[in-house]
Amino acid sequence: MNSFQTPFNSLLISNLTLTQAKEELSVISDYLHQCDHAYYNQDDPLTDDATYDLLRRRHKEIEVLFPELVKKNSPSQTVGSQANNSALKKSKHKVPMLSLDNVFNAEEFQDFINRIQRYLDLKTEDLEKLSFVAEPKIDGLSINLTYEKGELVKASTRGDGTVGEDVTSNVKTIAALPLQLMGNIPDLMEIRGEVYISKEDFIRLNKEQEQASKRLFANPRNAAAGSLRQLDAEITRSRPLSLFVYSQGYVSSPIADTHDHFLKKLQTWGFQVNPLYKIVKNAAEAEAFQQDLMIKRSGLSYDIDGIVYKVNAIHLQERLGFIGRSPRWATAWKFPAEQAITRLKKIDIQVGRTGALTPVALLEPINVGGVIVTRATLHNEDEIIRKDVRENDRVILQRAGDVIPQIVSVDPSSLEQNRSDPFQFPTHCPVCGANAEKPEGEVVRRCTGGLTCNAQIEERLIHFCSKDAFDIEGMGQKTVTEFFNEDLIHQPADIFHLQNHQEKILHSEGWAALSLKNLLTAIENKKTISLDRFIYALGIRRIGIATAKILAKHYTSYENWTKEMLAARQIGSDERLTLGSIEGIGPAIADELVAFFSEEHNQKALHDLATVLTIQHVETLQEGVLLGKILVFTGTLSTMTRSEAKDIAERLGAKVTSSVSAKTDYVIEGVDGGSKARKAKEIGIKCLDEKEWRELIKYPKNY
Ligand code: IVH
Repeated sequence: MNSFQTPFNSLLISNLTLTQAKEELSVISDYLHQCDHAYYNQDDPLTDDATYDLLRRRHKEIEVLFPELVKKNSPSQTVGSQANNSALKKSKHKVPMLSLDNVFNAEEFQDFINRIQRYLDLKTEDLEKLSFVAEPKIDGLSINLTYEKGELVKASTRGDGTVGEDVTSNVKTIAALPLQLMGNIPDLMEIRGEVYISKEDFIRLNKEQEQASKRLFANPRNAAAGSLRQLDAEITRSRPLSLFVYSQGYVSSPIADTHDHFLKKLQTWGFQVNPLYKIVKNAAEAEAFQQDLMIKRSGLSYDIDGIVYKVNAIHLQERLGFIGRSPRWATAWKFPAEQAITRLKKIDIQVGRTGALTPVALLEPINVGGVIVTRATLHNEDEIIRKDVRENDRVILQRAGDVIPQIVSVDPSSLEQNRSDPFQFPTHCPVCGANAEKPEGEVVRRCTGGLTCNAQIEERLIHFCSKDAFDIEGMGQKTVTEFFNEDLIHQPADIFHLQNHQEKILHSEGWAALSLKNLLTAIENKKTISLDRFIYALGIRRIGIATAKILAKHYTSYENWTKEMLAARQIGSDERLTLGSIEGIGPAIADELVAFFSEEHNQKALHDLATVLTIQHVETLQEGVLLGKILVFTGTLSTMTRSEAKDIAERLGAKVTSSVSAKTDYVIEGVDGGSKARKAKEIGIKCLDEKEWRELIKYPKNY
């Protein structure tokens, strides 16, 4: 999760002037739009749910008082965020997917009932007839499933509520989802539900991500969203997704007369409906259910963030209809964020690959919402000052859907006792002792030790071996750290000389002849590398994979690139001007490259690498045998990862897609190729097995 300053204002809303209200609505609205974009499109929330809800509520309250300021694109008039992942097809919902209003206490829930009573003009004695279905609010990702004559024909994400993203092939990989329904089913219907990942599966998935040196997911919801919005359905298949269904969109004929009967019907059709749902008749019963589930919450295998209450009678739902972005007949009674208090034992400073000093709170272990927590991030030194967090304080922790919790504040009881001195953020790197500088206007303090700093060396080595870089199987974080601590590797080129240390490795714990042989083969196989991966692997600050690709494409060869970069050190040189004029390379990136090439130890590290590696030229690859061809990979390949195979194909000029169509030129079939290979054979598309694929691309000779 990102940490941004949230636009909180403590002025009483009733005291706001029109100008202040306008100003605040605009600030909050911008922030909420940013939050929506980050949450829905990037699966990387800017803030926690509780803060988001509070801001949304304040925004709405201001709008109620100043209706003349309500804008068409106000957060109160829209849901979610425009689906922007252009790679996934857009899909329009037949009936918009709306959101729910929130309540936070019994009084507000009673208001919700009162509003319904007034709208329907119910006499007090008729209130008896009103009942609600109370269902856990699953913290996942909503999905719209379209069934035609009982067959699942489309699945799409919510997107902006009107248009979502087509994730049909991905959703079809979810085991719990019926693809063909039996019985008396409307000809056309939209069934809606929540895709989620259980807490246990989430922890397992993150462990796998960590071992493969891939980015960790912040919480189960992000993991579910990231897994579902994959271009390659095979990746989705490998992720442990589950689904609960809970509502309908368009239906060509009515399904049931009450929501309760609707849920029962869904169950008989083979859908998973959350088993904890219950009928309640009034606010007192709702409150009791709230208490009950709040206690059970941490023991549930999936995250819930409240309870949704829906008027049970469908004819009343129809009469009540919608207001703005939410139904009048339903509301979500949110749980408070899961909090706990524990002692902060120590503030530890970690040093990352680019030298950033990040403070981490080491905590006395504590259970927060079912997850044992021992650490919490403190983001940066300003955050420590703002919260005045000190060692030995008791601190309030909050896990708002996130496994890595936030420190909300120091527990007030701590403030009355003798406290340690305010935390002094180090001005020197705790690992190498070099100066740690914080440039004017930046929030991050950085070690200036570069590759003389052990922490940076180790992190860079980890990065060097990671998936998008050299992608060396068996050289995950753990192994790199082990070899680094045993002094076997210090700079990247040492990795390619590990065969000289076999004896020593075999003497360390966990290594046997076979595992070592596999590792050395994996390393040997990576001695030929594309220029973009090579550049990315160096771990230069601000050079991500996309920038590395731009540089590789522009400079085309390692020799040319290094020659140009060395010359670009001269301010005003042609080479420096050329570098600054490449599209996608801003001045900050150019400065980082020049700084990197200005360090002698970096030049030496590059030289040492270049002597053991074959770094491919870009042009030779683009004239490849696959120019203009459309490829589909299916099943598992045994000699290369999917990402490597895709990379090679693209460098040889091919386009890789995820589904087989008449336009496909080749399907490359690994083990368990399944339906795609079958389909290809049916429509006469050439299928290559792994051996034929390797012959076609001349692997490993060229790679
Ligand atoms: S009913 C017309 N029921 O919460 C509204 N939503 O804040 C239909 N959610 O977009 C939604 N569990 O993604 C409903 N049992 C449940 C739910 C649920 C989770 C999500 C859903 C919705 C959001 C609303």
